[in-house]
Amino acid sequence: MKNNLATWDISEKDYPKNGSQKDKLKFFVKYAILAPSGHNTQPWSFGLDDEAMVINVYADRTRALPVIDPDDRELIISCGAAIANLTIAMKYFEYIPEIKFFPDIADNDLLACIRPLMGYEPAENDKKLFKAIKQRHTNRLPFAEDKIDPYLLQKLVSVVSEDRITLFVIDNDEKREEVIKLIEQGDRLQAANKSFCRELAQWVHPNRKDSKDGIPGYAFGLGDLVSFGTPFFIGNLNWGDIQAGRDRNLIKGSPVLAILVSNSYNPLDWLNTGIALEKLLLKAASEGIAASYLNQPVEIPELNEQLKNMLNLKGHPNLIIRMGYGKEVKPTPRREVDDVIK
Ligand SMILES: Cc1cc2nc3c(=O)[nH]c(=O)nc-3n(C[C@H](O)[C@H](O)[C@H](O)COP(=O)(O)O)c2cc1C
Repeated sequence: MKNNLATWDISEKDYPKNGSQKDKLKFFVKYAILAPSGHNTQPWSFGLDDEAMVINVYADRTRALPVIDPDDRELIISCGAAIANLTIAMKYFEYIPEIKFFPDIADNDLLACIRPLMGYEPAENDKKLFKAIKQRHTNRLPFAEDKIDPYLLQKLVSVVSEDRITLFVIDNDEKREEVIKLIEQGDRLQAANKSFCRELAQWVHPNRKDSKDGIPGYAFGLGDLVSFGTPFFIGNLNWGDIQAGRDRNLIKGSPVLAILVSNSYNPLDWLNTGIALEKLLLKAASEGIAASYLNQPVEIPELNEQLKNMLNLKGHPNLIIRMGYGKEVKPTPRREVDDVIK
């Protein structure tokens, strides 16, 4: 396995059952860092307090994406996804995760303080979610035509409601077409925005690069040679029409198009969105269902307003995802656990 993928090579058998508190906390963090994040920036860090047996989760705003994500909304969502993995790992190893969100009003980078309390008995679903942490990967390839069973889809909808987030499934063909048009418009606007392209080009890498963050070309289905030129292509050519056509086809062929909606527009709701997102993706992965994102209309304020009005959404759209059955894809790089522990 390539060096920058080594973090995926983790096994539950390596759990330090007889190790120190610190070893255990560190082991949980190894699962947290496998979470998805915008542009694979991995904008998190962790403080381990072994005396109090607590993990502090921090936003690492040096990894922010100021053009695409000026309020750090997606950054906080990404940290929420890492928190979900932490709690799922704790439950698997028989701890009840006690979480305090934003425990220090003077420090808005400290997002959560999580204390594992002994005495949990993991249910079958907890075990499935845990095993799915290593199976979940963003899948940007076309999906098969197979529909998702309505009963299973309903279960996925319930998963996010546990964290007071709504999964709004767009099941009306006319509305779907309108959302596709907004996504296409978003592609063209983003590709025409030089600052957006420069930012994206910094995080998309040739397949052979050893970077521990960012998105390798293979995650977009690109071969080694083409991936070599991708950062230049993104930064210098107008690719809006190409991307718009590609996204239209991907969505047309996806059994489910849905939006994650939060009640309010604030960091706590973004954290909950991230937790709900990761639980949703893990539940889906455990059932063989893959997902990828088409967030363009949410990231552009004018289009976001149109999206809300068009679908009569009661709340704030945060992420647009498509789901379906796809071919297996490779994991993407991660920084190592020692790089993210304060
Ligand atoms: C908040 C958030 C926003 C994301 N937005 C997009 C997006 O707009 N387009 C996309 O292709 N992937 C998006 N992703 C997926 C990330 O690029 C992906 O998680 C990252 O590259 C790591 O890869 P992995 O999910 O396969 O582990 C997003 C992920 C998160 C958590």
